[in-house]
Amino acid sequence: MPKVLVLNGVNLGRLGAREPNVYGNLSHAELADQLVATGLTLGLNVQVRQTDDEAELVRWLHEAADGELPVVLNPAAWSHYSIAIRDAAAQRTADLVEVHLSNIHAREEFRHHSVISAVASGVIAGLGPLGYELALRFVAARRPG
Ligand code: DQA
Repeated sequence: MPKVLVLNGVNLGRLGAREPNVYGNLSHAELADQLVATGLTLGLNVQVRQTDDEAELVRWLHEAADGELPVVLNPAAWSHYSIAIRDAAAQRTADLVEVHLSNIHAREEFRHHSVISAVASGVIAGLGPLGYELALRFVAARRPG
């Protein structure tokens, strides 16, 4: 089965406990289980990872670029200012879908701009965990055959 990386950035390991009114009640482990199960129904081998270390996320993006792996990326707060994450994402050799659980455009002004979006295949924001599922569907649909 083709491999897809779902990469979640800073503070997303706190899902469930973190501002549930904004990010929902699902924990990161529950989200990961759900996405792996969705991947199986789509014929994708989904690997879900989360880090609070920017350098680690950069390394995973390099790994994806070298392996021609599609990526579903929630860069979290790094979306709004990390040129390092953007430059790593720009090296992509397969689809990269940017996902946000919340609608960043309906929130504080500093969240309205993502430095990642211009180098992504597409962006999904505000649909909660379903956004990741739809991103996986997109990745599955883009595969030849
Ligand atoms: C987020 C939105 C970001 O503004 C925020 O910093 C996050 C999560 C989202 O998924 O809605 O940590 O990317």
